[in-house]
Amino acid sequence: MNDTTATSKTAKAKEVTVAKAKGRPMLTWVGKKPLARIKAFPAQEIERFQAAGAESATLQTADWSDWPKDLPQGGLLYHGDNKDVLAHLLANGFRGKVKLIYIDPPFDSGADYVRKVQLRGAKGTVKIDGEEYTLGEQVQYSDIWANDNYLQFMYERLLMLRELLADSGSIFLHCDSSKGHLLRCLLDEVFGQDKNFRNEIIWSYRRWPSNSQNFQQMHDSIFWYSKSNDNSHAFHKTYEDASESYMKRFGGKTQILDEETGTRKITSEDETKGMPTRDVWELSIIAGFKGERTGYPTQKPIELLERIISCCSNPGDLILDCFIGSGTTAEAAQKLGRRWVGCDINKGAIQTTAKRLQACMQEQRRQAKRPAQGELVEAEEPVLGPCQLDFSTHRVNDYDLQIQHNEAVALACEHLGITRTRTDAFFDGTQGGRLVKIVPFNHPLTPMDLESVQTELKNRPQEERDVLVVCLGWQHDARAWVEQYNARRPINKLHVTELRSDRKVGGFIRHEPLSAQVKIEHKNDKLVITIEDVLSPTIVQRLNLEQGVFRAQITDWRAVVDCILIDTQHDGKVFNVTLSDVPARKQDLVAGRYELSAPPAGSTVAVKIIDMLGEELVVMNQS
Ligand SMILES: C[S@@+](CC[C@H](N)C(=O)[O-])C[C@H]1O[C@@H](n2cnc3c(N)ncnc32)[C@H](O)[C@@H]1O
Repeated sequence: MNDTTATSKTAKAKEVTVAKAKGRPMLTWVGKKPLARIKAFPAQEIERFQAAGAESATLQTADWSDWPKDLPQGGLLYHGDNKDVLAHLLANGFRGKVKLIYIDPPFDSGADYVRKVQLRGAKGTVKIDGEEYTLGEQVQYSDIWANDNYLQFMYERLLMLRELLADSGSIFLHCDSSKGHLLRCLLDEVFGQDKNFRNEIIWSYRRWPSNSQNFQQMHDSIFWYSKSNDNSHAFHKTYEDASESYMKRFGGKTQILDEETGTRKITSEDETKGMPTRDVWELSIIAGFKGERTGYPTQKPIELLERIISCCSNPGDLILDCFIGSGTTAEAAQKLGRRWVGCDINKGAIQTTAKRLQACMQEQRRQAKRPAQGELVEAEEPVLGPCQLDFSTHRVNDYDLQIQHNEAVALACEHLGITRTRTDAFFDGTQGGRLVKIVPFNHPLTPMDLESVQTELKNRPQEERDVLVVCLGWQHDARAWVEQYNARRPINKLHVTELRSDRKVGGFIRHEPLSAQVKIEHKNDKLVITIEDVLSPTIVQRLNLEQGVFRAQITDWRAVVDCILIDTQHDGKVFNVTLSDVPARKQDLVAGRYELSAPPAGSTVAVKIIDMLGEELVVMNQS
């Protein structure tokens, strides 16, 4: 299968082909359509991280000969909708190259997932009457779908993932009982239902008891399919202890099936390695153990990913997770000597993953003097040497505005007194007697948005309510469209609330950006960077909202800063991280003063400051 590709990687959009699903049975839904051709957009590299001291040229010992030559050799982290990112990967040399895919997509749970955001510093650094400040909760992503949209969303991703998978590759799809039965049908259709289906793994976790009127929900399902049905996929068999009841019954003897002859034989347990690991995995707790938690909602334990990756791939293999969240898959792959590609639509996820991988690579750098990839390192516990000690982040399309959308919608609803409707596939809620449509905040209201409301109303002949359209900005011809429409319609009148300028509720979104005072100086052969102050009006506003009558006071600017990145020779395009200051614990603060070797005269020094809400500021100075 060929892609129609343009020669330059970054210049133009390309078109990639996606094969039809091959299997049966087939689930159907309203609006089901295959994905024959899809546009692939170019990506821009945003940041490059390298573990301090890792001279990549001499340290890269993995076999990168199959790697697309336009891309940096190392971990790849993409910020964007995975439909765009997967198309981009297909168009840029990754077709058939991925050995293992793990995905943990939204579960269609009807929930908005939130991350608890806190200021940095020991208790009391920033306080009101001795209380620690929190910044409340930040909506990370929204998991509210109408059934058909969810199925089409997953179907499209699975079709593309199949194209990326190597013939000897495997895919693991993590889900729960809310959509598991439907996803299983989709997987059967896309990957084939007989020999390609390998296991339904039950991950049985521990969690706090709840008060619900049913049995406590304590498991997720992970469906494992191999792309081919010829057993060419990687599988490293592992063993576990036999259960107590088994031991009692068979008195310490283990009965195992001889796969060649199909007969059973009993051996003493000493002679065997135990029982082959079952497909019920009782491990960890729901969000992983305390030390590994990032605060990202729905984070999965690293132990779970380590088991999947170590059993079902080989050192050096390429692992892909296009719903990367907090970066668990990437960290497990990194620790186990595999290469990895991750993607998420949410900027908070990209920042969390980047932070986590930097810390992991830094630790690997400290622990080992770069053994060959896949080679065992001499250490107390043998570990596999890493494939890479650097990674880069990329963006497919521009999602900076998009990521604010979920949060902005939640705030707008609260501000305007809109009751959210979870079950309506088109309208977002109601306000008084009116239906409400919220137009995505990444573009101003256009006649096309208004036409979609008109079409929806036409399909609902019984609907008599007026519609409130909430938007951020107007396109010039949208006002005239609304006036003409309202003049023609006796019912279903359209009312528009523009969130910046509306007379009653306007001024709702007024963004004052992050600002900072940064001194960049040359002292002898050193470059000295001193951050003197950082001001985040958004954080102050948030604190005031959270704390009610008390006014927030931040006495140490470092409490609002999550991390500092420095590029001493900025080329104006990619942020090459020369130094990163990312304190591992929430109570630790960034240093604020940095001494580095002076770059050649004329270099541009860039300092990136990321605050606790993920807002970024880059300060530059020519040395
Ligand atoms: C259940 S979480 C994954 C958690 C992850 N396994 C971990 O251990 O942290 C699902 C992730 O999918 C992301 N997501 C949802 N829709 C997406 C899309 N269209 N493209 C890329 N990522 C998406 C969400 O932002 C969220 O981070």
